[in-house]
Amino acid sequence: MHQADKKRQAAEAALDFVEPGVDLGVGTGSTVNFFIDALPQIRNRINSLVASSQATEDRLRALDFEVSALSEVGDIDLYVDGADEANKHFHLIKGGGGALTREKVLAASARKFVCIIDDSKWVGVLGKFPLPVEVIPMAQSYVARQFVRARGQPVWRKDFVTDNGNHVLDIYNLTISNPVEMESRFNQIAGVVTVGLFAGRPADVILMADENGVTRRDR
Ligand code: A5P
Repeated sequence: MHQADKKRQAAEAALDFVEPGVDLGVGTGSTVNFFIDALPQIRNRINSLVASSQATEDRLRALDFEVSALSEVGDIDLYVDGADEANKHFHLIKGGGGALTREKVLAASARKFVCIIDDSKWVGVLGKFPLPVEVIPMAQSYVARQFVRARGQPVWRKDFVTDNGNHVLDIYNLTISNPVEMESRFNQIAGVVTVGLFAGRPADVILMADENGVTRRDR
């Protein structure tokens, strides 16, 4: 089965979590795009939609959905998003698409966070995928030096500006053996807006598609 078919299967399995009257947060990325494309089928169940990026907002609007600001909606019932890596503790690396800050806000605000992945994202230890870190531009080299001290190799994501007007450092070669501790430690570095580790607020459900279909894991 192609990776795209697995992504579509995981995304369509998430439709079952969309209950009538839902205030729904929508993530960012190629897996979530399959979820967005399936949303018109269940349009009548949706009370409001909040997007985690401009790209997602544009895709939703192209399908004639209204997109609300989080502050208009309050907390959301359900957040559906992909990940770059996931482990058995439901800890994630996210931000490959650069939308990590708004994604983290929506995950924090959601009563339930359903993560949709294909099996290439499933890992024993997080960190093979370089950890995205959003930084304010003037702090970029200061923050990079702090990650060198933590034995990572920071690489500036060239010609990329986040929806919030910031930069992204991708940190290579970190072995993330204690995701909760590392997330909170890296969050303390001055100039860091968001670390792409989702461990303090992990996923609640992981829907993972492989050759045999979709497996559901509940935390
Ligand atoms: C976006 O910033 C990311 O967090 C995505 O959720 C993640 O990169 C997964 O993307 P794909 O579904 O395209 O693999």
